[in-house]
Amino acid sequence: MYNETDLDKMYRNTAPPDREPERQYYFIEACRKKVREESERLGRPLTFCVTTFGCQMNARDSEKLTGILEQAGYQPAEEAEADFVIYNTCTVRENANLKVYGHLGLLKHRKKERPGMRIALCGCMMQEPEVIERLKKSYRFVDLIFGTHNIFKFAELLARSLYEGGQVIDIWQGTDKIVEDLPVERKYSFKSGVNIMFGCNNFCSYCIVPYVRGRERSRRPEDILKEIEALAADGVTEVMLLGQNVNSYGKTLEQPMTFAELLRQVEKIEGIRRIRFMTSHPKDLSDELIEVMRDSKKICRHLHLPLQSGSSRILKAMNRRYTKEQYLELAEKIRREIPDISLTTDIIVGFPGETEEDFQETLDVVRRVRYDNAYTFLYSKRTGTPAAAMENQVPPEVTKDRFDRLLALVQELAKEQTARFAGTVQEVLVEEVNDHRPGFLTGRMSNNLLVHFPGEAAQIGQYVNVRLEECKGFYYIGRVCYTD
Ligand code: 5AD
Ligand code: SF4
Repeated sequence: MYNETDLDKMYRNTAPPDREPERQYYFIEACRKKVREESERLGRPLTFCVTTFGCQMNARDSEKLTGILEQAGYQPAEEAEADFVIYNTCTVRENANLKVYGHLGLLKHRKKERPGMRIALCGCMMQEPEVIERLKKSYRFVDLIFGTHNIFKFAELLARSLYEGGQVIDIWQGTDKIVEDLPVERKYSFKSGVNIMFGCNNFCSYCIVPYVRGRERSRRPEDILKEIEALAADGVTEVMLLGQNVNSYGKTLEQPMTFAELLRQVEKIEGIRRIRFMTSHPKDLSDELIEVMRDSKKICRHLHLPLQSGSSRILKAMNRRYTKEQYLELAEKIRREIPDISLTTDIIVGFPGETEEDFQETLDVVRRVRYDNAYTFLYSKRTGTPAAAMENQVPPEVTKDRFDRLLALVQELAKEQTARFAGTVQEVLVEEVNDHRPGFLTGRMSNNLLVHFPGEAAQIGQYVNVRLEECKGFYYIGRVCYTD
């Protein structure tokens, strides 16, 4: 049986420190030793692949997992070739869970052919007790399982798995801990997500997030600013501030602070040219925030403002704490103050008790707000949420029919909205080589729209002015515009 003294003998003759993050750095070294031994035995480097499901928060967590794996001596590879495969899971809708089980079926076969392979699972889905029961019973080939609250302990758990073997499972029910200064390996050199808070206190009645991500905790502003300054020094020019409900940032800090104030501070950091954030809850969006956005040169002209439903009755049942009228007023105020802003949203169809009239209210809001884009979801029943116990669940064929009608409207309006920029010149951040059109690059505008244009890979990470020549619905084809 593994214990700390064994590791101690094997590694350094010192016990692991109690303090974080020092403790995790100790275990990274311990992993490194094992990985080196195994590489020497095989005569080749050991490889890893992190696969991310779900949202931007998970994408950022995956960069943290990658940072630790690289420091432990693993090298990146495609999933099919990797010695260590880790799935960072999502559980917001049932489909997300089904996908993971599907992938695991394939991994089981691969592991039979490659006995040295290791498989780990983490993320939101692991915080569900039924999932853990099922994994324990029917997925014994998974080596390491941990959740959202103890992700900072990844190096320690990996060491345990490497030294001890067997199925290592560590799930916490919650935490108030935020561990700073662990390694991170960014996917892009020029842009980065930055967590500003974790968890959610809103308990929208359909949503499993508060149960799997825990109570709201804000990072201290000085830690956030220090991280962004370090990112800027490392060549990052665009940051995306991440939280389930960024508008309530800072309320639980020892010295409370508003999100708008945090934005003001981030704006001052030299080298940062663009600031984005995700996600805003309409009930907490303050006038102060609208002002800061309006007056800022760096905050992007894009706001994601989840509507969920346009019916005040359904919004009440969803526990969203705003009405249709309040939402419309807010959207109007934002458009009035920041006319060039792009608004995007999330909408759920088929929430329990939703009638055709309720659905018509949703269509009405979509027509009035004229979103630049909307992510539409079929309501998915999540065990443990209040909505799952509601009796009047909508039949799937009714939900599907509404979903199709909503999508058609959203697409029609989004196309019209996108077209309003045709012929203009926009500053874009060049993100990548376009895979579908040889010789083309893809860049992102401040308003989050993408444009494909001829260029060279060396321009990735640069800001260029692009004339938007042809609107293709949700994106543009353009040409770099040299003004001087
Ligand atoms: N069913 C369908 N969609 C959901 N979302 C959250 N929970 C559910 C659910 N149970 C959607 C919401 C949220 C987005 C991230 O996912 O629209 O804004
Ligand atoms: Fe879920 Fe609502 Fe929290 Fe968003 S605000 S994560 S929808 S509970």
